[in-house]
Amino acid sequence: MSRASRPLPQSQGEPMNDERRALAKAARLHAEGLKLMGLEALPRGGDRGGRSERLAALARAVEQCRKCPLYRTRTHAVVSDGSQDAELMFIGEAPGRDEDLQGKPFVGAAGKLLTKMIEAMGLHREQVYICNILKDRPPNNRTPEPSEVDACLPYLLEQIEIIRPKVICTLGAVAVKALFGPHIAISRVRGSVKEYEGVPLVPTYHPAYLLRNPAAKPQAWEDLQVVLKVLGREPPTKTRTR
Ligand code: URA
Repeated sequence: MSRASRPLPQSQGEPMNDERRALAKAARLHAEGLKLMGLEALPRGGDRGGRSERLAALARAVEQCRKCPLYRTRTHAVVSDGSQDAELMFIGEAPGRDEDLQGKPFVGAAGKLLTKMIEAMGLHREQVYICNILKDRPPNNRTPEPSEVDACLPYLLEQIEIIRPKVICTLGAVAVKALFGPHIAISRVRGSVKEYEGVPLVPTYHPAYLLRNPAAKPQAWEDLQVVLKVLGREPPTKTRTR
């Protein structure tokens, strides 16, 4: 059975209308994004052909993007890190200072914790795909504006479409709100299996939040075990995130 046709777990925790609204909005933005890139439609998931080319074209489009004012203050656009064949996709909020300077997501302090979380799952950072809701750094790491999220979301939809991961793990409140609407509460949905663009999605806390609130790490570890379950993998017996 292809990934695209695999049966999906039921969404949990939020009223269906919010989800439907968010999905309809996502589909509209996706279509707009394809148009912007001069494409009418892309083959659905399961198609592995041309993945590198499609990702390279997407990276070029992001690097040239001027759909919101953030391009004026960026050093580098930050598209992704990790494997194009990943079964697991992490979605964070937006690049910070280190990421803007290096052009790679999650390379600062929060990134180091994310790498440890991935390793605690028995995986390597190079095996997963890491990206953000926003591809450019908001000045002083302020929270993304809704207009910036709307402008950037088509790129994320494109990444999901190309990678077609087996599971998505969103990191933090901003990411889950960007995908499911502003009323969703991370504390309520974390660790549940939702669905986005036909892909199972598990929200968890942002590593930057875990650095400020280490007492929440056991909850994040519970969430990562849900991710492993969706992946059909066992957690390693001894490793834990510190
Ligand atoms: N925080 C994020 O959400 N993304 C990054 O890339 C770095 C820090």
